[in-house]
Amino acid sequence: MIAIGSDHGGYELKKEIIKHLAQRGIECKDFGTDSTASCDYPVYGKAVANAVAKGECEKGILICGTGIGISMTANKIKGIRCALCHDCFSAEATRLHNNANILAMGGRVVGAGLALKIVDTFLDTPFSNDERHIRRISQIESE
Ligand code: RB5
Repeated sequence: MIAIGSDHGGYELKKEIIKHLAQRGIECKDFGTDSTASCDYPVYGKAVANAVAKGECEKGILICGTGIGISMTANKIKGIRCALCHDCFSAEATRLHNNANILAMGGRVVGAGLALKIVDTFLDTPFSNDERHIRRISQIESE
């Protein structure tokens, strides 16, 4: 199950992603927002991040206008590694190296065609499980 959320700046792209996930047979849980009316991105960033951190959803996708505010919010939640990606190379690398569990994008930055490729790359790339990457990820969490 994929958790997905956006603010008004990411709402239109979120709808495209939900349709794409359904076409791929991937289930998702939409945490809002439900329109293009102005709203506060931290509400949706926290809802998706908490669902992933608690293990209710395996991964998450977050979209705001730039992807910046919503990724900053998600990364405040313990256990969340949210990666802001606007290219497929970064989406692949953050799965292989960082075991990122949330993908963030900016709905005002990328078009739907590229965004859907980024989503596919993110969801289809496994963590490398390399010792050096496991070590570095544990260093992110330590004080
Ligand atoms: C909303 O106008 C905008 O600030 C938001 O979508 C996002 O880009 C924040 O980082």
